[in-house]
Parts: sequence; structure tokens; C-alpha cells
Amino acid sequence: MALFLFLTLWTLATTTLAIPPPPPIQCTTGTTTGCTLHNSYGIWGDRKDCFASKVVHPTTQDQLLSIVANATKHKLKLKVVSKFSHTIPKFACPAIGDSSVLVSTDKYNSNIHVNVDGLTVTADAGVGLRDLINKVEDAGLSLVAAPYWEGVSVGGLISTGSHGSSWWGKGGAVHDHVVSIDMVVPATETEGFAKILHLDATNELLNAAKLSLGTLGIISKVTLSLEKGFKRSITLNFTDDTGLEDTFTSHAKAHEFGDITWYPSKHMAVYRHDDRVALTTKGDGTNDFIGFQSNLIVVSKSTRASENTLEKAKNVKGKCAMASTFISYKKLVANGLRNNNLIFTGYPVIGRQGKMQTSGSCLYSASSDIANACAWDPRINGLFFYETTAIFQGVDKFKDFIRDVKELRDLNPDNFCGVDIYNGLLIRFIKASTAYLGQPVDSVVVDFNYYRADSAMTPRLNQDVMEEVEQMAFVKYGARPHWGKNRKVAFSKVAEKYKSLNKFVAAKKKMDPQNLFSSDWSDEVLFGSKGENFDGCALEGECVCSEHRHCSPSNGYFCQYGLVYKEARVCRYSQPSQS
Ligand SMILES: Cc1cc2nc3c(=O)[nH]c(=O)nc-3n(C[C@H](O)[C@H](O)[C@H](O)COP(=O)(O)OP(=O)(O)OC[C@H]3O[C@@H](n4cnc5c(N)ncnc54)[C@H](O)[C@@H]3O)c2cc1C
Ligand SMILES: *[C@@H]1O[C@H](CO)[C@@H](O)[C@H](O)[C@H]1NC(C)=O
Ligand SMILES: *[C@@H]1O[C@H](CO)[C@@H](O)[C@H](O)[C@H]1NC(C)=O
Repeated sequence: MALFLFLTLWTLATTTLAIPPPPPIQCTTGTTTGCTLHNSYGIWGDRKDCFASKVVHPTTQDQLLSIVANATKHKLKLKVVSKFSHTIPKFACPAIGDSSVLVSTDKYNSNIHVNVDGLTVTADAGVGLRDLINKVEDAGLSLVAAPYWEGVSVGGLISTGSHGSSWWGKGGAVHDHVVSIDMVVPATETEGFAKILHLDATNELLNAAKLSLGTLGIISKVTLSLEKGFKRSITLNFTDDTGLEDTFTSHAKAHEFGDITWYPSKHMAVYRHDDRVALTTKGDGTNDFIGFQSNLIVVSKSTRASENTLEKAKNVKGKCAMASTFISYKKLVANGLRNNNLIFTGYPVIGRQGKMQTSGSCLYSASSDIANACAWDPRINGLFFYETTAIFQGVDKFKDFIRDVKELRDLNPDNFCGVDIYNGLLIRFIKASTAYLGQPVDSVVVDFNYYRADSAMTPRLNQDVMEEVEQMAFVKYGARPHWGKNRKVAFSKVAEKYKSLNKFVAAKKKMDPQNLFSSDWSDEVLFGSKGENFDGCALEGECVCSEHRHCSPSNGYFCQYGLVYKEARVCRYSQPSQS
């Protein structure tokens, strides 16, 4: 059985060595000079490249100042991007035009200063999350919030509102732990065309700067609050999803870092009981999340190849078998939790906050090992997927959303197997924020990944179901998109959802009056400009269909109404005889 082969290969495949991700910027020299930028998946939502006339790699704050000064003087457009460009939508893309300059922070990463008495850490914006956490932990302290993926930079992660999971204290979003930010912004000629703003809690501009989508200036330094070092105790409870709509709230209240992974096709919910314990508690565990471990390239390739085959054959049962195999394996290895550096021996897994809060072992290279990589590495024909992340304002809307998804699931649970092959629906928690582009109330975040076809015009199996869930979230329940993820449809009407957008715009007028840091994508998202709906646009989430041609009539996919959320418009397959 191919699936057993999978499981065996997958088991053999995990190692901590890998080829590192590719650099996201490629430049050409010669007669046509210029650079292209990709996200970490190697392709943007619309599959169109973005360009810059050149890229600069500053190493000091003085260099940031002269870059901004020169751009202000010559009216050049600027955009900052981190070493790996992990934001999926096009926020890091410079404005279209022939004089855009990309500022990479890949070499702006030398300073990390821990203030032990003041319980803060100040880092250059290009510092990687893992380096920051290691320095903090070495000083006996802990950073409380972090995204689950450690391959991000300090400046980049706060700029899109990255988060882990917590309704306690300051909450799960990292930008809510920001104490101050130093930002380099354009200035007048007498000021030398650029200046550094030191923004702390006494300055309202901090509420704009701590989640800025890269549109205000270059973040130079970020100061984050810390707490005395602690450990975490994690137990995963694989159970059924009965009552999920009632228990998620109490779960979040009972467990400081709790989350829930919901596999709808299996009627299964995995409750992460995740609590702070004293540093003196015994345990040297690590959380090396299985999805972020390096895999043998051949395994990633064969997983992708099987998915392609099942898609082509419209083999839903095959997808369900694949999901079962993966979920069983995850249960067996506790999602990558380890009681020591080597293996999982039983719950609870207890370890230092720094080893439990985030992971990404596929990032690290050993020059001797070229057989392993992150599963989505664009060079290997491995996993290729969309990610939808919806942020629900308040508990009641999320409750109703779960009920709706269950109703849709109950029509045919197998339709959710494609999502369950990935991580099902990951449910996390973040607290109310003062950031203008953050969440004004305690919120629930749900993430799900699903197959993306090699070609833009190829429809997906059960594509209608994923589209219906997506529209339930963003339209019916008015959920907001995570800025760092999502397909274009999720950003529709964002301006209406963010009541403080006007304050953000006012701050931008002060900090970047000439819009050097604006881009076509950020303008379109924040201020709206309706693109034309083209043939097949709904297949890739570039539009919601309103005509059959937005789907793929030639492949039997027509624009139809939702099954549970009747107002949804989705691309659904129908047998040739019926159409
Ligand atoms: C595999 C994977 C897992 C993820 N897991 C999570 C998760 O668990 N939780 C979560 O919330 N998110 C998650 N994300 C999303 C990720 O955290 C965000 O997209 C994050 O913003 C990426 O950070 P980066 O350093 O790569 O920034 P980039 O993608 O390089 O940049 C992000 C934005 O910030 C701007 N920017 C970057 N640096 C600066 C600077 N110095 N000054 C001004 N602007 C700047 C850029 O212009 C861009 O607009 C995940 C992403 C991936 C690919
Ligand atoms: C400043 O910008 C001009 C105009 O694009 C460019 O020719 C020059 O090289 C830039 N100078 C520096 C120091 O980047
Ligand atoms: C797991 O969850 C089930 C159902 O909610 C509960 O009965 C059981 O006690 C839980 N197990 C642990 C170890 O918490």
C-alpha cells in the first residue's frame, strides 16, 4: 500500500538537517538589471513576480538613514523585506515602477541587547526570532508571545500582526508586547531628508508603528517586554469534536497557551493543554513541530505527487486515507513534542519556554546534507498550498462559525479530508490590542491550509467547500484576515472592518507624507480598488465568482450557491450529464 510506504518514509525522514530556504531576492546584472522578490513559497497569490530596480543590504542604522534620505531626495519608492520573506500576500513587494528600491534586513541583525533589570530586549529589525529567543533565555528570561514558526525577523513579524495563542496577560500577538520602536522615516531637507523616530507608549504613533504592514518607514529597532524565565507543560488531548463550539472558550481561559486543532473529517479535536510552570519543574522538552521539521526531499515530492494523482482522479476516499495516515502519525509522535532532544516518551512534555514556543528545524543547514528541506521549498516540487487565516471578533461569532462548519461537514465529512491532510483547522487566541491595525477585542484566529494546483486554471477537489468556509468566515461573520497570510478574497472590504484605519492613515501622513513606503498591493488592500474579474479568477481566490467563467466551466466547475451559507458563491463540480 502506497500509504504505508508514505508513513514509513515519513518516519525515516525526520532529521534536524536541511538545505536552508532559498534567498527570496534574485537580481540580474548586465544589460537588463533588476531584481525579483518572492515569498517563501516561491510564488505569490496571483503568480505574478514583483520587481525592484535594486536591492540594498544595510548593516547599520546610519545606513538606513542614508537610504531613506536618498530615496526622499530622489522620490524613490522603498520597501523593506526580511531574509526569508515569509509573508504570503504581497506586502513586501515594492511599488510598481522602475525606481523602487528593496531594503533587505538580512544583514541588519547584529544587535540584541537584553535589559535584565528592565525586563526588555532590544534588537535590530533583521534579527531572527530564534536568535532573539536564545539570547533572552540565556539571560534567564522569556519572551511570552511568538508565532509558531521561528523563521521570521523581529521587524517583519510585528509588521503583519504575527501571533501565537493566549488570552492571558498581554495576549498571544507579539506586537502587543512591544515597548518601543525606532523607525527611520522621511524628513524635510533641513532635517537631512531622513530622521529616526523613537516611539514609546507616550507617543500615539506607536499604535500605528507596531503593526504597520511596512507602509510607514524602516523599523530599525524593536524593544519587547519580557518576563522572568519559565517552562511550559504541554499535553495534547486527541478527542472528539463534540461540543467544540462550547468548550473552546473555557479551554482558552483555563490554559495560558492553549490551542485546538480541529480535524472536521475525522470528528476529531486536539486540545493543547499548555500551561506555564516554574523554571524549577523537571523537564528538558522541546517542541519541534512536525510540519516545520525537515523532510527528505523525495518524501515531500511523493506526497505532492500523490496529492496530484488523487486530485486528478477526484479520489476523495484516497485523500481521506492520506489524512488518516498523517493524523495517526502526528498522534504517535505528539506533533513533534519531545521530552528530551530525541524522542517523545509521554505527556506532559515540559521544557523551557524558548524551546516550546516556536520551531522551524527545517531552516538550518548542514552543508553535508542536501537531501532534506522544508516541505514547501519552491526548488523541490514539494508541498504547495493556500493558507486562509480568519480572525473572529468575539466568541459568539466563532461559536456560530463552528456550528456552520459542522453542518457543512455533516453533509459529507469526506469533503474536509483535503484540509485534514494539512493541519485541519488550527484555533488560536489573541487579546484586544491598541494597534490600529490589530484586533480591538479578544479574538479567535482560525488557520487552514489546502492544496493549490500547479496551474492557476486547474480547479481543486472540493474547492466549493473550502470557498464556502472562507466566505462564511470573511463575509457572513465579518472575520478579518491575518495580514501575513490569505488569498486576495480575504482582504475584500478590509477598510470597512478596521474602524481605526483612519487613525492609521493619519499617522502615515505624519510619518511618510510622500508615500515612499506605499505600494500597489497595500493601497489596493487598504483603500480598495476593484480589479477586473477574469476567467478562472475564483479558482485562486482572486475573486468570488459571480459568473461561471470565473470558475472553470470546461472542467465542469460552475459558479453555484453555498450549501449551508446560501449567499456564498462558490465553484462547484457537477457531472457533465447534469450541466
Ligand atoms: C511556514 C509559516 C508559518 C507561519 N506561522 C505563523 C504563526 O504561527 N503565526 C502567525 O501569526 N504568523 C505565522 N506566519 C506568518 C508570518 O509570521 C508573517 O508573515 C511574518 O510577518 C513574516 O515575517 P518576516 O520577517 O518574514 O517578514 P517579511 O515577510 O519579510 O515582511 C513582512 C512585512 O513587514 C515589512 N517589514 C519587514 N521588515 C521590516 C522593517 N524592518 N521595517 C519596516 N517594515 C518591515 C515588509 O515590508 C512586509 O510588509 C507563518 C508564515 C509561514 C511561511
Ligand atoms: C541615490 O539615488 C540616486 C537616484 O536613483 C542613485 O543614482 C544613487 O546611486 C543613490 N545613492 C545612494 C548612495 O544610494
Ligand atoms: C481529554 O478530553 C476528554 C474529553 O473532553 C476528557 O474526557 C479527558 O479527560 C481528557 N483527557 C485528559 C488527559 O485531559
